[in-house]
Amino acid sequence: MSTRRINVALGERSYPVVVGFGAIIEINSLIPKSAKRAVVITQKEVNFMPKLEIDSTTVNIGNGEQHKNLQTIENLVDKFAEFGLTRNDVVIGVGGGMVTDVAGFAAASWHRGTAVVHVATSLVGMVDAAIGGKTGVNIKQGKNLVGAFWQPSGVICDLDALKTLPDREMRCGLGEVAKYHFLTGDDLLSLEMTDRIARCVEIKAEIVSGDERESGRRALLNYGHTLAHALERSSNFALAHGEAVAVGIIFAAHVAHAMGRIDQSRVDQHYKIIGQTYGLKTKPDEKFNRKDLVALMRSDKKAVSGLTFVLDGPSGIEVVNGIDEKHLDQAFDAMQLNEK
Ligand SMILES: NC(=O)c1ccc[n+]([C@@H]2O[C@H](COP(=O)([O-])OP(=O)(O)OC[C@H]3O[C@@H](n4cnc5c(N)ncnc54)[C@H](O)[C@@H]3O)[C@@H](O)[C@H]2O)c1
Repeated sequence: MSTRRINVALGERSYPVVVGFGAIIEINSLIPKSAKRAVVITQKEVNFMPKLEIDSTTVNIGNGEQHKNLQTIENLVDKFAEFGLTRNDVVIGVGGGMVTDVAGFAAASWHRGTAVVHVATSLVGMVDAAIGGKTGVNIKQGKNLVGAFWQPSGVICDLDALKTLPDREMRCGLGEVAKYHFLTGDDLLSLEMTDRIARCVEIKAEIVSGDERESGRRALLNYGHTLAHALERSSNFALAHGEAVAVGIIFAAHVAHAMGRIDQSRVDQHYKIIGQTYGLKTKPDEKFNRKDLVALMRSDKKAVSGLTFVLDGPSGIEVVNGIDEKHLDQAFDAMQLNEK
């Protein structure tokens, strides 16, 4: 068994991410020494249970974004109380990004901060969601609007878990991998799977280490996400996160082109990388209403001054505020999204 260990360097809150086939064997080494008991939060579909050396109980939560809410947190903290979980104990999130976001937020809130270890079981979870300490849940006004920064004590990315991951979820993960492709220019698909995931973890770790609370460079990780979040919500989450990110990256390229930041050949390159290299859809099959999408993008929590996008341009990818709606219209026209 060969695993890779990547350090997320955050001073006293630094932690390792262990990547590889069979990495789950390292779980007990990531649990804080003070912990006498663990609550494992997972979903029945995930079916990837760590063997723990401390007393534990398992709680299954619902599957899907509609369960990523405050009701789920309330149910969980009730279970924590029943089990007698203390602040010195540990919460373990075993699942995709939905589970680790929920487990992280429940841990952050429990007794004002209890340790959490993440076992990422989806590709999105491994390359993105489980790393970096962003936790939270959705409310009806938007995704991830209630949450906390709460770094885990360690993260496991065991590639054995991916064997049961549905194909569609693998493709969603590739949407996030494609994002790193654009951020770094790295040819990530040329790497074998352990190295590919490890490289994505390294890229995310490096960005998070430099900007833990997203006051600057970390926002670049939202490349493709402004439209993606709107598409997810507007489709009532029929369109999955990674699928929406792939479309959102194409849309961002069109917005950048409409603003004169990039030329047509760079837009074409976006289509080639998303569509051909990563084999992802560049536009969704579903119909969307343009006005609804713009209203949702305006209410995006990143939109501090008008419409905010992460856009490609002459100095690379950067955050651009106050975008004129006419450029969005031009991008929608160019993309020929199915409209209703
Ligand atoms: N915190 C962050 O920085 C961050 C970053 C990116 C995404 N996210 C969040 O992550 C979520 C998306 O993550 P996701 O794509 O992993 O979604 P998800 O957690 O909903 O998982 C997708 C599906 O795969 C199933 N699944 C997961 N692992 C499995 C396995 N090994 N075998 C079989 N089925 C498995 C789940 O049960 C679910 O049905 C969103 O809520 C998004 O907001 C958070």
